[in-house]
Amino acid sequence: MNKIPNLKLLSGRDIPQIGLGTWGIGGGPVRDPNNDDSGQIASIKYAIDNGFSLIRTAHNYAQGYCEEVVGKAIQGYDRKNLFLVSCANQKTAVDKKSIIEVAKGSLKSMNADYFDLFLIGAVNPDTSVKSILDGLVYLQEHGLAKDIGVSNYRLPELKAAVEYLGPKIVYNEMHYNLIIREPEICGALDYCREKGIILSAYRPLQLGQLSKPGIVLLDQMAKKYDKTQSQIALKWLIQKPGVITMTKAANQNHIDQDLDVFEWEISKEDIKKLDSDFPIQIRISDCSEPRTFKF
Ligand SMILES: NC(=O)c1ccc[n+]([C@@H]2O[C@H](COP(=O)([O-])OP(=O)(O)OC[C@H]3O[C@@H](n4cnc5c(N)ncnc54)[C@H](OP(=O)(O)O)[C@@H]3O)[C@@H](O)[C@H]2O)c1
Repeated sequence: MNKIPNLKLLSGRDIPQIGLGTWGIGGGPVRDPNNDDSGQIASIKYAIDNGFSLIRTAHNYAQGYCEEVVGKAIQGYDRKNLFLVSCANQKTAVDKKSIIEVAKGSLKSMNADYFDLFLIGAVNPDTSVKSILDGLVYLQEHGLAKDIGVSNYRLPELKAAVEYLGPKIVYNEMHYNLIIREPEICGALDYCREKGIILSAYRPLQLGQLSKPGIVLLDQMAKKYDKTQSQIALKWLIQKPGVITMTKAANQNHIDQDLDVFEWEISKEDIKKLDSDFPIQIRISDCSEPRTFKF
């Protein structure tokens, strides 16, 4: 079995450098009535049996059905060997009360007692960030989440959250990959490093765009290191200090590849080349609209 190295959260707890995303399990935005539950459960179990321990889900994936499927897949594993992360969507979790309800509902769906990490999915410009943060603290103080964090928090919101809660904010998940460079450009990555907050890169393969041949520099690196394009894209992220990533893989070959990113290194010169010469670089994520926020 592959052993995924850990980074340290500000709380002192360990977090694996790669987690398994679950978007698409149980359906898409809505539940798929013909979902292949047994196939998806088997692929999650395969991922755990081969080294994944962090499973990253959300209450709104497939209208809650994703968490039920994940909950079935993780039964039978020793809970303390898993690192369960869930996330409340900012359109449902609009204040302290509703984020607590969302988290409790997720725990019920997954048949779990606590999350290792619980997140708010993004800033809702119409609701109070402070109220959401109060809800996250409640979850932590009541043992429902060991650690708390945020997602899609750009620098102003992240700073406001950290000014309010200090080192309780241990994690910020952002759209980040070879193409989408927002965390580097907007200052969130530097700020996370300065404060010891883990920057978690979601959509590391840009939904498969970085998995295909056709981008010359990526193809050259894959050839040079005798790895796939996906492995180069994942490795480029996790070689960066303070960065972990959430990859979604259901196919067993993909799971195997995504786990085989630790016993080798991209040279410093090649990391720099990928940093600067990658031919498509987009400054702002298309997953999270620019906005103002209320505290
Ligand atoms: N915080 C947020 O706002 C936010 C937003 C988006 C996503 N996320 C989280 O981040 C996770 C990952 O992002 P994502 O699912 O959007 O995109 P992604 O991980 O960039 O791409 C997933 C796609 O890549 C394929 N894949 C995985 N490993 C591969 C490999 N080695 N070779 C070729 N293809 C490979 C998967 O195929 P198979 O499944 O067929 O193996 C899947 O189609 C999500 O599942 C979700 O949990 C969070």
